[in-house]
Amino acid sequence: MDKKFPEGFLWGGAVAANQCEGAYNEDGKGLSIQDVMPHGIAAPRTEEPTEDNMKLKGIDFYHRYPEDIRLFAEMGFKVFRTSIAWSRIFPHGDEEQPNEKGLAFYDKLFAECHKYGIEPLVTLSHYETPLHLAKQYDGWTSRKLIGFYENYVRTVFARYRDTVKYWLTFNEINSVLHEPFMSGGIYTDKEKLSKQDLYQAIHHELIASALATKIGHEMMPDAQIGCMVLSMPTYPLTPSPDDMIAVMQAEHMNYFFGDVHVRGMYPGYIKRYFHENGIRINMEPGDEEILKNTVDFVSFSYYMSVCETADPAKKKKGRGNLMGGVPNPYLKASEWGWQIDPQGIRYVLNMFWDRWQKPLFIVENGLGAVDELIDDGMGGKTVDDGYRIDYLNDHLLQVREAIADGVDIMGYTTWGCIDLVSASTAELKKRYGFIYVDRNDDGTGTFARYKKKSFDWYRKVIASRGEILEG
Ligand code: BG6
Repeated sequence: MDKKFPEGFLWGGAVAANQCEGAYNEDGKGLSIQDVMPHGIAAPRTEEPTEDNMKLKGIDFYHRYPEDIRLFAEMGFKVFRTSIAWSRIFPHGDEEQPNEKGLAFYDKLFAECHKYGIEPLVTLSHYETPLHLAKQYDGWTSRKLIGFYENYVRTVFARYRDTVKYWLTFNEINSVLHEPFMSGGIYTDKEKLSKQDLYQAIHHELIASALATKIGHEMMPDAQIGCMVLSMPTYPLTPSPDDMIAVMQAEHMNYFFGDVHVRGMYPGYIKRYFHENGIRINMEPGDEEILKNTVDFVSFSYYMSVCETADPAKKKKGRGNLMGGVPNPYLKASEWGWQIDPQGIRYVLNMFWDRWQKPLFIVENGLGAVDELIDDGMGGKTVDDGYRIDYLNDHLLQVREAIADGVDIMGYTTWGCIDLVSASTAELKKRYGFIYVDRNDDGTGTFARYKKKSFDWYRKVIASRGEILEG
């Protein structure tokens, strides 16, 4: 087996605007839903932004991005995934005219990437719906959001058509099933939201995503537009056929999103689910045609796998990336209870490829851990994060296996290539980066950047095209 990853493989790292930029109200930016989520999904939202919300300042990427991009370039990044904060461009989301200062910021950011030959990979909507759209329209439950999103994507496509080639429509679009406020800007309490309203909101997002793909292809013939799903492979807890069917049904709930994006229509199993749950999607004339604008590639996050069972007595829910699931007795977990399963990434790559035959892009993978800043023995500071190196090494070895299995993989961006604020808990102490940021959950810290041990390791991985991976 070839130890080197293919030539042209896009190595890099990923962040999202709301988790790193800070500057939450600078240069005309409006509020986003994140500004009222001081503890992520771990505690109720607030009415107004509060000082304990670490995302208001983030890691100050808005002001320090030139230094950060330079460090990414030093690691040899070929690609950098970030998102555009919708509320920088349209502060309320429903204006007709964009905020020029917001647009200018991303001009500078993308130019900085290109200075080092780094290709930006841009998520159009990464858990940062303008707050006004959530409050005024109940987020994606309203069909009006399609028009506002269309105006936004037309604006950014027109502005960045020559600087951005890779686009993702919605981050982890399937997570709206579990976190309707964070993922879909839906203000109605999760407990009160009916399945009817939730799936109608999903329909609006799917239409918006297909429309963005259509418009993107028209405006930027050379661009590649992908969907983005949260992957969490599901294993049967036992070999019982009942457990296997429970797995199939759980997987369908997630595959549904990719199936619509890739096949351009609603699959039979979801129609059955709608029928049995009294859900009637309100389709407008033309919707079915719009859905036929299918994506060029499928991107996904992968952190962990879960189990599923049909036995209610064994159905206890473990912790995990937004969805969670039944814990697997064979796996160990991270400090945040996310079960670590490197082989799961090979499995998911094969399943997606077999199902969709579309190029795949791993746009999130990484380990959230508590890091300790120590003296590096040369007058500076570092973090001895061998645990992170092990995690990434083991996952990349499985990506290499998937390539050998014949899966078409465009690239790999580690999540949180620089420490940032967690999405689920809004903590800074849950660190993912190759670069340590001196910023703490009590609001202390200088925002100074320090290279961790994993920084040099990843640089060598990229330089050797994966040849130095061990195992
Ligand atoms: C994904 C999100 O769910 O997982 C990211 O797309 C998020 O925004 C990442 O940060 C890791 O999750 P967390 O909760 O540890 O930040």
